[in-house]
Amino acid sequence: MKLSDTRAIRVRAAAGDYVVVCRRGTLRHAAREIARLGQFSGVHIVTSPRVWRAVVKKIARRFAPGTKMHVHLFDDAESAKNLKTVELLARKLVRAGADRKCLLLAVGGGVIGDVVGFVAASYLRGVALVQVPTTVVAQVDSSVGGKTGVNLPEGKNLVGAFYPPNLVLVDPEVLRSLPAREFRGGLAEVIKYGVIADAKLFAFLEQNMDRILARDDQALEHVIRRSIEIKAQVVSQDERESGLREILNYGHTFAHALESATRYKKFQHGEAVAWGMMCAALLGHETVRTPADDVARVIALVRRLGPLPEWPPVPAQRLFALMRADKKTKFGKVRFVLSARIGKAQSCDGVTEKAALCVLRFGPRLILEHRNALEECHD
Ligand SMILES: NC(=O)c1ccc[n+]([C@@H]2O[C@H](COP(=O)([O-])OP(=O)(O)OC[C@H]3O[C@@H](n4cnc5c(N)ncnc54)[C@H](O)[C@@H]3O)[C@@H](O)[C@H]2O)c1
Ligand SMILES: [Zn+2]
Repeated sequence: MKLSDTRAIRVRAAAGDYVVVCRRGTLRHAAREIARLGQFSGVHIVTSPRVWRAVVKKIARRFAPGTKMHVHLFDDAESAKNLKTVELLARKLVRAGADRKCLLLAVGGGVIGDVVGFVAASYLRGVALVQVPTTVVAQVDSSVGGKTGVNLPEGKNLVGAFYPPNLVLVDPEVLRSLPAREFRGGLAEVIKYGVIADAKLFAFLEQNMDRILARDDQALEHVIRRSIEIKAQVVSQDERESGLREILNYGHTFAHALESATRYKKFQHGEAVAWGMMCAALLGHETVRTPADDVARVIALVRRLGPLPEWPPVPAQRLFALMRADKKTKFGKVRFVLSARIGKAQSCDGVTEKAALCVLRFGPRLILEHRNALEECHD
């Protein structure tokens, strides 16, 4: 079976289309891809000390041979994803003489992509941007779709802009150095793409999860590429999240409530999404009649990502209230993305409070029991 297709993935955006190149080893040829964009007065690599050490140090020159290259480092902790960092970076750019014809290269995870994307959108009212995502989440999610922004003390991603990059360079090889927890959490988003849009991807994940967890290059490249294709297709049709794009939030209504209830400390985002998808599968059974077999497949596949932090001892009513307070709630109605069968999803605002509360109350136990039942089968 031919797994990977090396063609660039095209994304449509109102401000201009762009491509995502997803290929093993693509960063070794980064300069060639960047040169296709035209001439720049200077190339500014913006990354964190950690990503610099793990990924960029060895290959920095490949981004801009023969061009004036600057490197700007900043702390990529979620707590540094704020307006202060935007100001700090903009001032570094001024001091380095960055003009309107400069290029910013955001190399890192979603924090770096979101912050540097927002800097690119606002510095001198917009400069060229290339995203080089280095985590699973950044490769399959945040670097594609043009959402950039930072947090306020009042909440996440409250200040931002749609600012599509000029190019995205995805090299699955850089994931080798990613810490295990980040890697597994990111795979939850990959499973999400299978559930919402591609039954074949889902089946591939079922058959190859061990290879993927062992970071087998070929299997990883295939699932990352396929995830990007799905994201690209969705955001090309609905850049501003007025409809279809909502399906990307499968599992996220639950996930955001879990993250918020635990003050973003207990769960890594992907872990919360993992719980959220299993709950969404159960809710699908309650409401859009997802067959029990599909629910069982979603739970079984998610559980193969490894142990998750325990479901927190927070009353179901409190979690539901947090869902209501979510910024994606429309007219006070909590919206859930549900999947009637693997490979299809829709956004629903007709879910009753009773059904949601039922999943919040009994879901976590059902999920754990499901796992125990599975383990007994294996014994
Ligand atoms: N814009 C969007 O559409 C969108 C979508 C999803 C998530 N996000 C945002 O993305 C952020 C989360 O991003 P993330 O999950 O990529 O995590 P992250 O950016 O916080 O990175 C996680 C950690 O991994 C390190 N790291 C990154 N690449 C590495 C590598 N190759 N080797 C070793 N270490 C590496 C980083 O230094 C960091 O410590 C959140 O702020 C979230 O809001 C945005
Ligand atoms: Zn997510």
